[in-house]
Parts: sequence; C-alpha cells; structure tokens
Amino acid sequence: MIRKLEPKDIEVVNRYLKEFNYKVDETLNEFVNVLLYDDNGIKGVLVYSKIYDRLEIDYIIVNEDYRRLGIASKLLKYMEDENKDALNITLEVRESNIQAISFYKKNGFVIEAVRKNYYKDEDGLLMMKKLGE
Ligand SMILES: CC(C)(COP(=O)(O)OP(=O)(O)OC[C@H]1O[C@@H](n2cnc3c(N)ncnc32)[C@H](O)[C@@H]1OP(=O)(O)O)[C@@H](O)C(=O)NCCC(=O)NCCS
Repeated sequence: MIRKLEPKDIEVVNRYLKEFNYKVDETLNEFVNVLLYDDNGIKGVLVYSKIYDRLEIDYIIVNEDYRRLGIASKLLKYMEDENKDALNITLEVRESNIQAISFYKKNGFVIEAVRKNYYKDEDGLLMMKKLGE
C-alpha cells in the first residue's frame, strides 16, 4: 500500500535518501510531501513538492531488489491522483541516469531542456509531464 510518512519511518526513509544527500525530518515544510510504498516494509520512497499548481519530483527511489515491478509508477500515479488540480510535474535528472530517464519517459514525461552543469560534475535534464489534458 501507499501511505504518507509518519515519524516512525524517518530513520528508514533517510537510509533510502542518503544517496541523494537529503534527509527528511519532523519539520518538513508545507510544500514537501513524502509518499511510501509499504509492503511488509518500505520498498519505495517519493519526495515531491507542491508549489501552488505545479508538482516537482525531488527524489524517487525503489529498493534495488524490488525494481521493475511497477512500484515507482504506482507512487507517481498516487501523487497525480492526490493532486488533480496540478498543471504539470517537473524534475531534474542526471543525463547519465538511463534507468530513471526511461522510467520517466515511460510514464509520460518529455525532455524540456538541458541544464548545463546542474550537478556540478554533470548536466541535468529538465523533464516535464503535463497533467489534465
Ligand atoms: C528510477 C526508479 C525509481 C524506477 O523504479 P521502478 O519501481 O523500478 O520503476 P517501475 O517498475 O515503475 O518502471 C519500470 C520502467 O522504468 C524503466 N526502467 C527501470 N529500470 C530500468 C533499467 N535498468 N534500464 C532501462 N529502463 C529501466 C523502464 O521503462 C521500465 O519499464 P519496463 O520494465 O517495462 O521496461 C529506480 O530505478 C530507482 O530507484 N533508481 C535509483 C534512484 C534514482 O535514480 N531515482 C531517480 C532520480 S531522482
């Protein structure tokens, strides 16, 4: 099932987010939302921001042993269903991250722009999905 972050999840979720050098805590600001895919334990995490009528995917990660089973797609769909008033979803991804780029394309995102040196050592791709069309 997909559910929202609770205080008891913070340690496990931060283990997932470590590779992005990001941490959630109990003082999440009003724009940031965390969704968890929980099936006998947390298997996937989606952190997104809702900025008025736009959604921004900050981080999405699935446990390596449970990839390509549709978990990230389900998290994405849940976010969209919860935010039916949103106009679009954007994100930045490393241009070398083929698996994530394929995942986003499969889920209706297109490349909008190249962000030069977005990651200091690498360019980023700005990807977008329009909603409500
Ligand atoms: C990107 C990620 C979240 C996808 O999660 P997932 O649960 O495996 O995704 P889903 O099962 O919903 O979707 C699978 C689709 O994604 C794409 N995909 C996933 N892994 C892929 C790979 N290794 N090579 C090519 N395409 C891949 C394919 O389109 C695939 O569809 P298919 O299996 O029918 O070919 C996961 O690979 C991950 O956690 N990566 C590490 C973290 C990361 O890079 N996050 C994104 C940057 S913030």
